[in-house]
Amino acid sequence: MKGNVLVVGLQWGDEGKGKIVDFLSKNFDLVVRYQGGHNAGHTVYVEGKRFALHLIPSGIINRRSKVLLGSGMVVYPPALQKELDLLEANGINTRGRVFISDRAHIIFPFYRELDQEREKRARDKRIGTTSRGIGPAYEAKAARVGIRVGDLWDPNLKERVEIVVKRAIHELGKNIELESIYSLLISWRKILEPYVTDSLQMIHRFRERGRILLEGAQGLLLDLDWGTYPYVTSSNPSPGGAIVGTGIPFKDIETVFGVMKAYTTRVGEGPFPTEDRGQVGKWLAEKGKEYGTTTNRARRCGWLDLVAVKYALKITCANKLVITKIDVLDSMEKIKVCTKYLLNGEEIDFFPSSSWMLEAIEPVYETLEGWDKTHGISKIGNLPKNAIRYLEFIEDFLQTKIAFISTGENRADTIEK
Ligand code: GDP
Ligand code: IMO
Ligand code: MG
Repeated sequence: MKGNVLVVGLQWGDEGKGKIVDFLSKNFDLVVRYQGGHNAGHTVYVEGKRFALHLIPSGIINRRSKVLLGSGMVVYPPALQKELDLLEANGINTRGRVFISDRAHIIFPFYRELDQEREKRARDKRIGTTSRGIGPAYEAKAARVGIRVGDLWDPNLKERVEIVVKRAIHELGKNIELESIYSLLISWRKILEPYVTDSLQMIHRFRERGRILLEGAQGLLLDLDWGTYPYVTSSNPSPGGAIVGTGIPFKDIETVFGVMKAYTTRVGEGPFPTEDRGQVGKWLAEKGKEYGTTTNRARRCGWLDLVAVKYALKITCANKLVITKIDVLDSMEKIKVCTKYLLNGEEIDFFPSSSWMLEAIEPVYETLEGWDKTHGISKIGNLPKNAIRYLEFIEDFLQTKIAFISTGENRADTIEK
């Protein structure tokens, strides 16, 4: 494997991107997150230690790579401070290794409240956000009133903050003290200053003399444009987001790794054709420990939906697959895979464009034989025959080769095909 790579989730997030980025990052000089904020939760287990990363790219755990919070991200400095402290407490130096784009947008403290208030007002139409203020931050960015990291040093900062504060007062119907918000922002300079950089210059330096890995957060089905709108996040995890959110030329990306779980999960509201609210869903949730890294919410679970993943491949153009959590299916007698949908009684083989259509979908399944154990296996030859059949079925259906198979949460529980 040579060149720069992109790692993107092919489902509704939590596919195990963090584990895979950590596994790959030893071969990369720079690991860049290109979108999202602390709505993400990327869990990495190394040598018995668990790291839950929300803002800092998962390449930080291996000691080789430098990591960059890209220009497409939205950053809440107190959350960043917490993460930096945790890493330092675990013996991982952040100075000189962590960098933050001066073009990334700042999340204001009242964005969380705005996020929650909107959810409350939406009642049964709520999205089930992570309440991290991600939507309000991207909205301010699109409205051209956002404050970027580099703007904390703008001599006209106070006037710009006033515009943001006034908009929030208007929506929340309560007073917010401009002075206290302004002082808070000034105090955030201290957190950010050691790490801020012009990320475009940095990326272009690394393009010339190193290898870059771009780490996606969320997943294709949560993409603002290509996901199950409106039940999506407010950024673009798709490769377009990686180009816009870093400034890397698209021709520089050689390999796109599409990460998918061996089954499907989703946190929050929105259509989920293969959701299983019975025994199977319970099994997957319990064995897969399907509780959110960020909000600790129970994830909804169901069988693998290959119609949805095929759709995700069309947009991501992933040329290598990474299958995670195959061990969660261990000791199941039969395993189902969704290969078609029924829409109004008619068979379709594509992922409909609208959530209201997806709500009406009935999945059509094929049933495969289960296997005994894959957990902890690190050599392809040691996988049970039926697990190999399952993987081949996925490769054939998706017409894309599998590069890595993850059989457990530890770095070592990984098969390189
Ligand atoms: P991300 O958001 O895509 O990085 O994924 P999360 O970290 O939110 O969720 C994936 C969860 O599954 C984490 O708790 C990982 O430690 C865990 N995990 C990753 N790969 C495997 C695997 O192959 N098997 C098992 N059992 N757990 C895994
Ligand atoms: P990682 O990177 C799973 C979901 C939320 C909600 C929707 C919008 O760990 O895979 P937001 O707070 O972004 O406005 O919420 O998106 N969501 C995620 N689901 N994994 C994530 O990140 C997610 N980030 C946001 O649950 O449905
Ligand atoms: Mg996650």
